[in-house]
Amino acid sequence: MEYKHIPIMIDEILSGLNIKPDGIYLDCTIGGAGHSLQIIKKLNDKGLLIGIDKDKEAIAVCKTRLKDYKNVILEKSDFKDIAQILDKFNIVGLDGVLIDLGVSSYQLDNKERGFSFRFDSKLDMRMDQTQKLTAYDVVNTYSKSHLTRIIKEYGEEEFASSIANNIILSRPIKSTKQLANIIEKSMPTKIVYKRNGAHKKTFQAIRIEVNKELDNLFETINFLISKLKSGGRMAVLTFHSLEDRIVKNCFKINSTGCLCPPKTPICICGHKKVINLINKKPIMASEHEQQVNPRSTSAKLRIIEKI
Ligand SMILES: C[S@@+](CC[C@H](N)C(=O)[O-])C[C@H]1O[C@@H](n2cnc3c(N)ncnc32)[C@H](O)[C@@H]1O
Repeated sequence: MEYKHIPIMIDEILSGLNIKPDGIYLDCTIGGAGHSLQIIKKLNDKGLLIGIDKDKEAIAVCKTRLKDYKNVILEKSDFKDIAQILDKFNIVGLDGVLIDLGVSSYQLDNKERGFSFRFDSKLDMRMDQTQKLTAYDVVNTYSKSHLTRIIKEYGEEEFASSIANNIILSRPIKSTKQLANIIEKSMPTKIVYKRNGAHKKTFQAIRIEVNKELDNLFETINFLISKLKSGGRMAVLTFHSLEDRIVKNCFKINSTGCLCPPKTPICICGHKKVINLINKKPIMASEHEQQVNPRSTSAKLRIIEKI
């Protein structure tokens, strides 16, 4: 299957990263190299692009798509392990970092990957196909309360408890279609008709749990800020309110000086402001982009610059 993914807010990201031709750029979620291909076009022979992804199929596609460029390092890895990768290649400072979170269209649209209710696939949803935990394990082994919490929190699903209950009663659940039917039966019919895809929220929740998408995000962004050179930029694209909250908090703390309580006479925390926010409010895709690519509708872009 061809790797198809339309890069989101490409112009906003390219201008936001303020690319220096001889700079070192890190794409933590390279996917199909949609953004990276445009970044590398702006680099000269002294510049370097490091692209990582935990999906081996994404890395294989990038090897082909970026084959004409010599100044590229591609690694199959989780971005939480970025410190080891930077050490391995003796990279001490970065001029730019891009994190485009979530799942790619290729992963969603590929029947074999078991992400979507549009196909009757086995429940999988792993971005990293070498990891043990699959959607099958989450759906068939988690307790009712654990499932309810995940579906409510990660899916923001009001029928979480009823869905979790019906999941427990219907085990074993083997396929995406079977799960989608159970979800539909767990909510009033009028809601099923009203929503465009009654299962979307629960599928999103299970996917976030399988791939531990919120774990280590704060720590990774915080670490990468420390690796940015002065004037270096970071752009983070999120698709979920919880993801955006983590990014916003991390940027807020790093763009704030003293964190002592307001009435403390002298600063005792020693906290220093290390970044400036390029945009205070998240940037949204233009109306045109949202029409052409509906996956951009929920995207929020935040950009910072290292002081
Ligand atoms: C939205 S896609 C990126 C698309 C890419 N920017 C493009 O234009 O082609 C997100 C990618 O990030 C990867 N990914 C998500 N979480 C990751 C993590 N913690 N570590 C490494 N890769 C991750 C996914 O496997 C997926 O390929």
